[in-house]
Amino acid sequence: VVVRRLDYRPPDWLVDEVELCFWLDPRATRVQGRLRLRRADAGGTAPLRLHGGDQPLVRLCCDGAELASHAWQRDSDGLTLFGLPAACTLEIETELDPQANRALEGLYLSAGIFCTQCEAEGFRRILFFPDRPDVLARYTTTLIADERLPVLLANGNLVASGPLADGRHFARWHDPFPKPSYLFALVAGELVCRERPYRTLSGRSVQLQIYVEPRNAALCDHALASLERAMRWDEQRFGLEYDLERYMVVAVDDFNMGAMENKGLNVFNSKYVLACPATATDDDYLDIEGVIAHEYFHNWTGNRITCRDWFQLSLKEGLTVFRDQEFSADMHSAAIKRIEEVRLLQTQQFAEDAGPTAHPVRPDSYVEINNFYTMTVYHKGAELVRLLQTLLGWEDFVRGMRLYVERHDGQAVTTDDFVAAVLDANPQAGIDRELFSRWYSQAGTPLLRLSWQQDAAAGQWRLHCRQSCPPTPGQEHKQPVLIPLRLALLDASGRPCGLRLAGETEAGAPERVLRLTAAEQEFTFVDLPGEVTPSLLRGFSAPVRLEAPLTREQQAFLMAHDSDAFNRWQAAQALLLQALLAGLKAPEGGAGELADSLLLEAFHHSLTDQTADPALLALALTLPTEGYIADQLPGAVDPARVHQVREKLRGQLATRLNDALLICYRQQQDAGPYVFSGPALARRRLKNLCLTYLARSPAEEARDLLWQQARHSDNMTDTAAAMALLAETPDVAVDELLQTFYQRWRHQPLVIDKWLAWQARSQRPDCLARLCRLLEDPAFSLTNPNRVRALIGTFCQANPYHFHAADGSGYRFLEQQLCAIDGFNPQVAARLVLPLLRWPRFEPGRRVLMLAVLQRLAARQPLSRDLYEMVQRALAQE
Ligand code: ARG
Ligand code: ZN
Repeated sequence: VVVRRLDYRPPDWLVDEVELCFWLDPRATRVQGRLRLRRADAGGTAPLRLHGGDQPLVRLCCDGAELASHAWQRDSDGLTLFGLPAACTLEIETELDPQANRALEGLYLSAGIFCTQCEAEGFRRILFFPDRPDVLARYTTTLIADERLPVLLANGNLVASGPLADGRHFARWHDPFPKPSYLFALVAGELVCRERPYRTLSGRSVQLQIYVEPRNAALCDHALASLERAMRWDEQRFGLEYDLERYMVVAVDDFNMGAMENKGLNVFNSKYVLACPATATDDDYLDIEGVIAHEYFHNWTGNRITCRDWFQLSLKEGLTVFRDQEFSADMHSAAIKRIEEVRLLQTQQFAEDAGPTAHPVRPDSYVEINNFYTMTVYHKGAELVRLLQTLLGWEDFVRGMRLYVERHDGQAVTTDDFVAAVLDANPQAGIDRELFSRWYSQAGTPLLRLSWQQDAAAGQWRLHCRQSCPPTPGQEHKQPVLIPLRLALLDASGRPCGLRLAGETEAGAPERVLRLTAAEQEFTFVDLPGEVTPSLLRGFSAPVRLEAPLTREQQAFLMAHDSDAFNRWQAAQALLLQALLAGLKAPEGGAGELADSLLLEAFHHSLTDQTADPALLALALTLPTEGYIADQLPGAVDPARVHQVREKLRGQLATRLNDALLICYRQQQDAGPYVFSGPALARRRLKNLCLTYLARSPAEEARDLLWQQARHSDNMTDTAAAMALLAETPDVAVDELLQTFYQRWRHQPLVIDKWLAWQARSQRPDCLARLCRLLEDPAFSLTNPNRVRALIGTFCQANPYHFHAADGSGYRFLEQQLCAIDGFNPQVAARLVLPLLRWPRFEPGRRVLMLAVLQRLAARQPLSRDLYEMVQRALAQE
């Protein structure tokens, strides 16, 4: 069944109050719901529609009397009730089996902890209910459980609790804020709480609490500190404060996604909560801070103001990702954060836009909404919010946000409402709403082609801009969008010139944001001091593919001199990519050198640059991934060649730059113990970047360093960097090291995930055979999404060399795992299948093999709706 955006109709019935009571039991949890209902339109006649899963209906009463059997009807996804009074109280009772729930949607058990995941449509698996985000109700929740489950939590404030007869106890929670059912949550278990008080800027007290299993009690400090920083930041940047007496975060091991922003009671994948230097890497620390902030920021952008329907998902997700990005940029280095975001966008979202699942930030239709929690909705959505900030400047953007909150607090609204509020607050900006809104309705990555003519003698530089957007499934023709193009023109010493357009009288600023509004446009800059080098799309001012005729000399100049750190990174990546693409074009992968003297000098200069930020250098000198390289190829991809050429360049850089790499490595090494701080993190990054090349150096000294670090580092950042490199190639000593590591950490699942991932990425010839054995390891479990992502996900997404093995063994491996997983966890299956969907990009041999797997999957019975939609989209391209 296809759901379409234009079919939206407001609800016929509203729910004002919900009282829920849960008698928790692993195999038979009794749920009682009392719903105070009324017709939205008192004169209406429409029956009441309640969504539901396949749980039994035990009791159904209206205003105290059992409903006659002709007054209601049950079908595969819910109940329809006829002839109800225009206002009434409905009582519904049902029974659940949380232990059997391995889809991790609705009420389930994770390591003995009862927890819920209701977004997007999980609440209906708990109770029959109008499970749509535009029905907002006040919830009171009572939990009754055995005393052996001491902690009983639900949304809102605790209003009563105490012992009951026969070893049971209860807790009652009330959430005063009307909310959609997808924000409902409960948790019950043997948990410990790490907490601290917080005072908001206006002086309210809030108790911040993190609940974890007792064995993890010592691993919450970083998450708690991150939460405090996020709360303070939102008060200061946007004037938004928290609104309940407590803010609770619970960490569970089995979770389909990263975390969930349930009102006052976030449920988290433990991966985004637990950390200590011995078990978590620098990137884990940063991710925890980012996800804690993300879920907290949802309290305003998502919970207080929610989505009218699921086509508006980016209203809360794009905006909240933007907010967490801005937070992380303020906590650490803004340039580094920006580069990492753009790298994610260019490698993952651009690929999505170019494939069979391409969809607009505001989609027009779906089969399964869980398939639309995508890079496009989240990250391209965040870029669109950023476009507004770029066009307005951040103060005016904040004014727009304030109007949005003021206007829509307590409502369920659309992305159009958001754009309207931000622009209404800023009429002076003269932004064309229609032109801007096309970003939300058109799929695909716009291509921006720039060219220019320079008349150095006359001091003029003329820029020609052309924008277009390739067709995507269901959208053949695209219209121009509003593209902010931030640029500077650098003189021979690298200084930005004053930018004055022909016809302007005032002296120009060193950087400007041009507004591109049509398919083709020209701009002429005058009064320039002579030859200039353009620095284009600074800070990645719009999510477009840029084509610009910069020479390699100009790229090297920008890499060394651009005052925009993002563009220094982009220039370095462009140089590396050119070398790789040249190698791929040449027969035999370029028999000779891929790294010419220009590239070697640029690298050498960077490695010995004492003034640059080490974290920025590390990003600049990182080779593009095989997947990204493949995406840049004009024709059909042979993944084995891509791998071979990339490894070749890596080896050549390692050999030629061996001495500089060794010196740089040693300079960045910290003498003291591990600290999580910006400068220390930056040094570890550059050091470990050097190590990725040194692992390919023939020098014995390099080899020693690698082993030394793998064996003796005091922190997981350095251990993991070295272990991952050692695990790339077969070696008996490495096998022993892996075994020792396993013995030490096998009771820490999050650490075991790293161990699994190293082996899943390995280039060693027996990689797949080893993975098949790991599937049987007691530390692995197919029902835990983190384990599955670490082993199977990593293999299929981060090991193209083996996943795309010419004999199809990688594809068959994925097929087998999909068949096993889809039966109990469709959401996880529908994510794992993604790499297969890219089949049209590959050379004919692989294409046929990939297609065959997709066709076999399509023919499977039963097949989940999630996986069905994905496979059908891929086959539609045939
Ligand atoms: N709203 C969550 C977030 O913070 C994501 C939850 C989505 N879950 C799902 N099963 N689709 O981004
Ligand atoms: Zn979110």
